[in-house]
Parts: sequence; C-alpha cells; structure tokens
Amino acid sequence: MKRRDALKRLGVLGLIASSVVPVSAMQSEKNTDVYQKYNSKIINRNFMKIKDSKNPTKGELKHTPEIKIGPKDKNGYTLVEITIGQQGIIHPSTESHWIDFIELDADGKLVARTIFEPGKAMGYAAYKVKLDGVKKLTAREGCNLHGIWEYTITLK
Ligand SMILES: [Fe+2]
Repeated sequence: MKRRDALKRLGVLGLIASSVVPVSAMQSEKNTDVYQKYNSKIINRNFMKIKDSKNPTKGELKHTPEIKIGPKDKNGYTLVEITIGQQGIIHPSTESHWIDFIELDADGKLVARTIFEPGKAMGYAAYKVKLDGVKKLTAREGCNLHGIWEYTITLK
C-alpha cells in the first residue's frame, strides 16, 4: 500500500486540510467556537510582505498592522494599540473577508492574541503590556483571504 493511501485510510490528510488556525494558536484554541464556525472560510495562511517598502500598494497598507504606543499606567503597563492597516486605510470586516486574529510579540515572544468574529469586529486591538527592557514589538494579523502580515517597531 502506498503511503498516501495509508494516510488517507487513517484520515490524516482530511485532518490536515481542515485544520487552518493562526500560526501560533495552541491546540486548545482549535476547539473554540470561532474556529469551529469559520474554519472553512480561512483560506490563506501564507506569510505576506510589502514588495516595495518605498511604494506600498493600497492592498499592502490595508493589511499591514500599525502600532501606536500610549501612556504607561501607575502599575507599569503601557498601552499598545494595533490597527489594521496603515495610513488610515482600514481593513474591512464582512462575513466573507475579515481580520481573523491579531497577535503581539514582545522581543519575539507572544504576549497577547485576539480572535475576531467576521462582520462583527474590526481588526483593532489594544493591550496593556509591561515594556520594561523590551526592544522590539511585532504585531501580526491574519486576513482570511490575504494571508498573514507583520509589522515590527523598535523601542527607544
Ligand atoms: Fe484582506
């Protein structure tokens, strides 16, 4: 029996094809209501990049996260706002095309994640994060149709 047939018999291929989740989603999150309901509409998980950073297209700006740093509160947490996308070109949220998740990494480690309901929540998230000693923030988003986009800022 060929390997593919063996895998098919075990149902492995079907399982792989139907499991589309954010890059760093943990096993337990695959069972959340949002994933169960919209998994079949999340069709692009490729990492995307702006082709010419000096001349980004409207579509590229629409998918690139914008990071704004706000004030630090009395407990030492700093407001970090993430909007999709940049220069006021905001990504839509409809039943068939939406930002399905936003994640924030501090120095390469995931510190926050939000999952969005299509047609009901826009691609925006605000977190309060301890930034003491953090040098780099990366925001990552997934568009169900246009893939995964990242933007990194360096902190002073
Ligand atoms: Fe999109």
